[in-house]
Amino acid sequence: MCGIVGYMGKRNAYDVLIQGLKRLEYRGYDSAGIALEGSDGRLRVYKAKGKVADLERAVEGQDISGTMGIAHTRWATHGVPNNVNAHPQCSQSGSIALVHNGTIENYGLLKTALMQQGYTFKSETDTEVLVQLIEYVKETNHCNLFNAVRESLRQIEGAYAIAVMEKDNPDTIVAARKSSPLVVGIGEDETILASDATPIVAFTNKVVYLQDNEIAVIHRDRPLQVLSLETNHPAPVDIKTLQMSVAQLEKGGYDTFMLKEIFEQPETLRDCIRGRIVDDGARVVLSGVLQNKQKFLDVNRIVIVACGTSWHAALIGKHIIQDMCKIPVEVEYASEFRYSGPVITDKDIVIAISQSGETADTLAAIQLAKNKGAFVYGICNVVGASIPRNTDSGTYIHVGPEIGVASTKAFTGQVTVLTLLALCAGQVRGTVDAGTVRTVAQALARIPDTVRDVLKLDEEIQKLSRTFTYAHNFLYLGRGYNYPTALEGALKLKEISYIHAEGYPAAEMKHGPIALIDSEMPTIIIAPTDSLYDKVVNNVQQVKSRGGVVVAIVNPGNTAMQEMADYCLEIPEVPECLTPIVASVPLQLLAYYIAKNKRRNVDQPRNLAKSVTVE
Ligand code: AGP
Ligand code: GLU
Repeated sequence: MCGIVGYMGKRNAYDVLIQGLKRLEYRGYDSAGIALEGSDGRLRVYKAKGKVADLERAVEGQDISGTMGIAHTRWATHGVPNNVNAHPQCSQSGSIALVHNGTIENYGLLKTALMQQGYTFKSETDTEVLVQLIEYVKETNHCNLFNAVRESLRQIEGAYAIAVMEKDNPDTIVAARKSSPLVVGIGEDETILASDATPIVAFTNKVVYLQDNEIAVIHRDRPLQVLSLETNHPAPVDIKTLQMSVAQLEKGGYDTFMLKEIFEQPETLRDCIRGRIVDDGARVVLSGVLQNKQKFLDVNRIVIVACGTSWHAALIGKHIIQDMCKIPVEVEYASEFRYSGPVITDKDIVIAISQSGETADTLAAIQLAKNKGAFVYGICNVVGASIPRNTDSGTYIHVGPEIGVASTKAFTGQVTVLTLLALCAGQVRGTVDAGTVRTVAQALARIPDTVRDVLKLDEEIQKLSRTFTYAHNFLYLGRGYNYPTALEGALKLKEISYIHAEGYPAAEMKHGPIALIDSEMPTIIIAPTDSLYDKVVNNVQQVKSRGGVVVAIVNPGNTAMQEMADYCLEIPEVPECLTPIVASVPLQLLAYYIAKNKRRNVDQPRNLAKSVTVE
């Protein structure tokens, strides 16, 4: 994790960098720091434990002039969050400053070697080892900053996106990446680099996505230079145009990004579906599937790899793909997949789901799957991120930047794309009848309006949330398509309110968790009137007869459940496979308001970061 930014141009670098850090704060927020080039040739480095706002307070009254600088917002992997461990990390002489996103695996060995050369270390970070190594190489080889960085990176094992600057050199920033993202924005007489495009879009829409093992030299008077780390030969500078607006990155009148993103879902789902359902629902067109028809015809098995919320979407995807395509599907945590001795062949399709497209475990899982010959398909949100660039084909969910750390609109977008994929591949394979395609596709085309209706529950849920603010434990139950919805509801609550919550398949409750039921532990049951409804009713009764409090998510007019449960939230009826999209929205709101009642920072919950680019 961590966010890095760098700027060189004519503006005051501090302003650009601070604004950039605020955009990237979702990636980490336990400390922040900045290095600016001074007119006197000195590097001015300011750091603060805490958020970017703490850094702003720390630099009050300090010299923040200069037109070049680098900055960092940290999610600590090596060393506690404090000022010393915050980045930029500086070399022993103080002449080189570096910001880093990633982890350096062989830092221990390198540190020992550098200590033998007389280097002393102030921080506990792996990053300090790299900046010291650069200084050591520069001094022993009498080379320039670029060559010192390049030579040092060749000795590094691990993941990095870095930006480096040095004193007495106000015209050069050297940046490089391997397994951590880095984007360079090319403006008029200015260059801004960042972990993602969000700090860049206010200045330019022309960007270059640096590739793994590439090193870039940003020079004040020369065009961007990109070179291969291995060969030192120039690499192509492929300039792309950003499809992102500054407005998408603002709160737009909402109190938090999370609330904005929950309420945006009617629009984001519309964007996600646009152009993909045609002929009044008779056909679903997903180019990633249609361009690879043979793969979907020959496939023996699909394995979906993902983490967190994306893994929950994967579980729903499994169900719907099996239903529509009659292909066996397995779902794996990306972090476990690699270590489970996976048997993958060229007859397998591996689908990777990731909002950020940068999750290190998911990236590593697809690399392994590719090496074993599988066809790898990505379902991502961030355009141009590492996962879409490393997959054979895929589909973007197109829900726009998701900034709240707790994923909401990306989840509903992922489930929507998985549904489209299942319908499209089912049609290619002839495993789904035309009637089913039309019914589901038409309902999916209406889902933006359906979700708009669900959002009308806002006030009711806000009121309900007050009843539960002081509960210490929650149980979320669902069956079939809605077992993963229960997992996702529980995760949302945990993440942002810090209340312990467990998601369970409703029928499994009697095999253990039922022992937890008492009047103090609310149970949230997802109980639309679907094929498993009658069985879920039994579970509600089991909870009630043990004195539990039940909140049921039901379809309108379910008087039987209204009598049984303590509280009911009504969601419109949709085909069974689409209920997770509809049912997850009240769960997002419930988690949101409980967290707000507890005065939690919902956009930046403690210990978390949006994009987990470390293993
Ligand atoms: C979701 O609310 C989480 N913060 C987290 O579980 C997330 O879904 C997970 O880290 C995967 O991220 P990705 O989709 O960007 O790969
Ligand atoms: N390893 C570095 C540190 O702990 C960077 C962390 C990261 O990118 O998550 O400071």
